[in-house]
Amino acid sequence: PAVHVLNGPNLNLLGKREPAIYGTATLDDIRTELDQRCKARGVDLVFRQSNFEGDLITWIQEAGAARAPVILNPGALTHTSIALYDAIKGAEASVIEVHLSNIHARESFRHHSYVSPAARGIIAGFGPLSYFLALEAVLASI
Ligand code: DQA
Repeated sequence: PAVHVLNGPNLNLLGKREPAIYGTATLDDIRTELDQRCKARGVDLVFRQSNFEGDLITWIQEAGAARAPVILNPGALTHTSIALYDAIKGAEASVIEVHLSNIHARESFRHHSYVSPAARGIIAGFGPLSYFLALEAVLASI
């Protein structure tokens, strides 16, 4: 089986983007660590990032069709995108929503997620560890 880790807008800037909020680890650091953890557990990793909503929709549809579990950090699309909600529902994708920051402890416009009602579960506030905890949740159920 392959785990699909999908990252939305601005996450390519991780490491230099608002480090007080998001930390200094880069997206490549997170990919490297996930890759090691996946190899140790015998699962393949598909790791992707896009600044375009449509790419994420296509990738969610792909993962859903492949019955592959998804770890999704939608970035700011979390708070705006009915299309991502529809993609998860439409593709019957199994999605764990992750955030580096605790979105509920931040600006009120980050408190609502369009993705959460379509997600299996949500992990937020642990920095890169949010992704690794999500991987544990995936591995526990495949
Ligand atoms: C984020 C939180 C979002 O509110 C924000 O727009 C991001 C990153 C996080 O990982 O903490 O881009 O998803």
